[in-house]
Amino acid sequence: MTIVLAWSVIGSSFTPVFDKERETFGSHIITRKSRSLACCARRKTVSCLSHSLHKASSAKVDWKNLGFGFMPTNCFVYATYQNGFWSELETSKETSIRIPIAATVLHYGQAAFEGLKAFACKDGSIRIFRPDKNAERLQLSASRIMMPLVPKEMFLDAVVRAVQENCEYVPPYGSGGSLYIRPFLFGSGARVGLGPSDEYTFIVFVVPVGDYYKGGLAPVTAIVTEDYDRAAPLGVGNVKVGGNYAADLLPYMKSKERGYPVNLYLDPVERKYIEEFGTSNFIAIGNKRTSFITPNSKSILKSITNQSLMQLAEEELGLQVEYRKVAIDEVSHFDEVAACGTAVVITPVGRIVYQDEVISIGNNPDQVGPVSKQLYELMRSIQFGQIPDKRHWMYKVV
Ligand code: PLP
Ligand code: COI
Repeated sequence: MTIVLAWSVIGSSFTPVFDKERETFGSHIITRKSRSLACCARRKTVSCLSHSLHKASSAKVDWKNLGFGFMPTNCFVYATYQNGFWSELETSKETSIRIPIAATVLHYGQAAFEGLKAFACKDGSIRIFRPDKNAERLQLSASRIMMPLVPKEMFLDAVVRAVQENCEYVPPYGSGGSLYIRPFLFGSGARVGLGPSDEYTFIVFVVPVGDYYKGGLAPVTAIVTEDYDRAAPLGVGNVKVGGNYAADLLPYMKSKERGYPVNLYLDPVERKYIEEFGTSNFIAIGNKRTSFITPNSKSILKSITNQSLMQLAEEELGLQVEYRKVAIDEVSHFDEVAACGTAVVITPVGRIVYQDEVISIGNNPDQVGPVSKQLYELMRSIQFGQIPDKRHWMYKVV
């Protein structure tokens, strides 16, 4: 996201500029273009109805080589909160926004986000995976950092509209990609003394994505971060606020520089129990592949992918789900380890570096384990509509 601050240089001082293309100077993003976009929504929805591999998408995207990066799409959806009320949802074609230089998001980190995905399904429909859960989690995050709640219906309307408006960017069925949906909420009102903002902005943008880590189901090597903590025991680790990711940047980049694409955090008190990876939850298969094991801690983010996998592991694969404290010392006994989350889906972890020792997982750390593979395939088949959606997880958009 580029934040355009409307200042122009006159001599050596900065002067605020009112941009006539836009209707306000403050935290609003209302543009003339956005009005006409809303009018096209219905036409776009109709053109999306036959979305499939057989009907070439009109978006010029190299579907086979999608990574996890930003690209402009048709528009984003947004609403603003002022005087205790949310505005109507609007759309904007811009890829930048204007906010006051004293907005609380810029100084005090009043920001939370979500990540979810829409899929082009086998029957030609487009469906979103469990958006109601993301709506609930954004509310949890918002209340923790004193932001107003985005009503669940409004959240759902916004993500549906963002997908409908951009449906030609949903990677076609069979390409393996998906449309990543990024809703976020932040304090956009000016304040200098510490306190919550009076104004907020909620935005949903979308971007087509492929694998988060190159190589799909090829196992990665993770490293335990020992010189930094991700979260404090009663801090904000359990909510999806921007500061958690800022805190992870340095440890993550240090790990990457050492050749490890994933970093694993331990509990900040005893440095004994596994918390989670920087951008995903930790899962393990153990007890001769009869158990699905995942850490239970107050300072980790409750992954919707993980909650879903726990259910699939128990109900579809007959595994015993162990949702408990998991000691780092147990890792060498596990048959399989993986990272799970919306972006990473299920990424197998073949080796974990801990205190300069390389711990190999299972008997073949270079290959995805059979249970992780089964879970991955189950999940993907539900998401792409290849098997019945017994639990009604998929939310039909088109
Ligand atoms: N943990 C962290 C820190 C994350 O950033 C994410 C990604 O959203 C997850 C876990 C996985 O959560 P979910 O499965 O809901 O995407
Ligand atoms: C997601 O999986 O949606 C995430 O939020 C990960 C993101 C930090 C890249």
